[in-house]
Amino acid sequence: MSNIYQFPDDFVWGSATAAYQIEGSPLADGAGPSIWQRFAHTPGRMLNNDTGDVACDHYNRWREDIAIMKELGMQAYRFSISWSRVLPEGKGRVNQKGVDFYERLVDTLLENDIQPVATLFHWDLPAALDDQGGWLNRDIAGWFADYGRLMFERLDGRIKRWATLNEPWVVTDGGYLHGALAPGHRNRFEAPIASHNLMRAHGAAVKAYREVGKHEIGLVVNIEPKYSASDSAEDLAATRRAEAYMNRQYLDPAFFGTYPEELREIFGEAWPEWSQDDMDLIKQPLDFIGVNYYTRNVAKHDELNWPLKVAPVRQNQHTYTETGWEVFPQGLTDTLVWVKERYGNPKVFITENGAAFFDPPKSETNSSGARRVRDPLRLSYLRQHLRAVHAAIEAGCDIGGYFVWSLLDNLEWSLGYSKRFGIVHVDFETQTRTPKDSARYYAKVVATHGAALSNEDD
Ligand code: BGC
Repeated sequence: MSNIYQFPDDFVWGSATAAYQIEGSPLADGAGPSIWQRFAHTPGRMLNNDTGDVACDHYNRWREDIAIMKELGMQAYRFSISWSRVLPEGKGRVNQKGVDFYERLVDTLLENDIQPVATLFHWDLPAALDDQGGWLNRDIAGWFADYGRLMFERLDGRIKRWATLNEPWVVTDGGYLHGALAPGHRNRFEAPIASHNLMRAHGAAVKAYREVGKHEIGLVVNIEPKYSASDSAEDLAATRRAEAYMNRQYLDPAFFGTYPEELREIFGEAWPEWSQDDMDLIKQPLDFIGVNYYTRNVAKHDELNWPLKVAPVRQNQHTYTETGWEVFPQGLTDTLVWVKERYGNPKVFITENGAAFFDPPKSETNSSGARRVRDPLRLSYLRQHLRAVHAAIEAGCDIGGYFVWSLLDNLEWSLGYSKRFGIVHVDFETQTRTPKDSARYYAKVVATHGAALSNEDD
């Protein structure tokens, strides 16, 4: 097979998950509740009243899940640590059984030649810290750095790549501005404070890492490139606001120590002045940036859309996923090139990329008992997006690896189990796992180090 899809020799291929979405048993063995545990048990917050009480039962089935990764030839696994499993009150007393769970997971990954990549915070804030203001309390920078230090001391060396936060934008926008995600606030004055404290916590954890860790640490952001619906001054300004709010709000302070000017315009009187000390804390040298990419946004001015005054324009010529996101692989190349040009070509990992398409709740079984799930749309999404990653590498971007979202069908936050993102199907009645056709395809791409992307007929 001729290989036109040449990836760097050390390019890493993996898959990703997050604690609350897969683990289940959120209160087992002395763990404390997280804000997602509370949110999911508040009537009306979750679609179908789903909760993460069982999820994929990964807390008990992690060995089987590692065996599946091994079978698929995965080289790396990005997972998140549940803060309140290891620190039930978020600070102070350590729950050794919680630490043990992650130690066993990491050791078994290593025995199977799968590199562990750990995210410290994938949205499941300890409820005890939320009771003290959560991301609105400035002390959280210290609480987060202490939690980070604990994990670095226990696991650095075995884990060689760490991420501080997953998608601070989603936490701010969903958790504090629009309220669709935990902790469910809807407050224009809180959002900038939560956002800023997330980034102070990120900076403080990176500083702690430099004291005790010896490997790599970075920040994971979700980037959705914004394209203006027209050349009108109004639409162009709206596009700039959307882009500042989602794409520059976190990377600008991390790299430059400043916030985009447009945020003042968006938040008005709710946008505070920040001290130089804070900005210096946020701006820490990073070893990599994790980019999560799902879709793009074509933006137009819309006076009524609070508070950004921007609305998306649907692109009917393209496929949309089950979460209503346009399939637009070129946007991934554009995003990676934008990061390279704006931020000086940092090392980037695509830490999430994937799609929810309809899959039946049960797999097919043939006469010899073999199970199968056909997911041609997801397979094609992966092929196109991996090719888009390759195009960015050709354009000179420093890309270290790719993690498909997600290894398993899982709890899609407030959408519950209604959206399936996995390359491995989970039957939520029986917990049976079945690699979908997209998993088999991805395994082939991994095994050929990208060469299989040339085939059209997989
Ligand atoms: C998050 C995941 C989520 C995925 C799909 C990302 O925003 O990091 O936890 O499941 O997108 O919505």
